[in-house]
Amino acid sequence: MSRLTIKVNGQEVHGNSRESLLTQLESAGIQPEYQCRNGMCGACRCKLKSGAVDQQDAMAFVGSNEILACRSTPKANVDIEFDYQLTYIATKEAM
Ligand code: FES
Repeated sequence: MSRLTIKVNGQEVHGNSRESLLTQLESAGIQPEYQCRNGMCGACRCKLKSGAVDQQDAMAFVGSNEILACRSTPKANVDIEFDYQLTYIATKEAM
């Protein structure tokens, strides 16, 4: 499935099954916290409430039902939640 829905903190955005959740959220104008973008720091950790992701190898600790947005690619529609208020950024399309 290449086109799918990413629900993040209650807001739905269009997604795909090719790019990481972090990249897709940024493209949609939503900026989760991040530092390394390669699974080392854990800054992009979020809760996977429903759906499924492919998670690439990562060093950062994740608890049960948690994923790293920088290393996770959706396999289906997903519902994720960050435990803080997300920042909104300008997207290329909006400029
Ligand atoms: S940004 Fe560092 S683990 Fe995702």
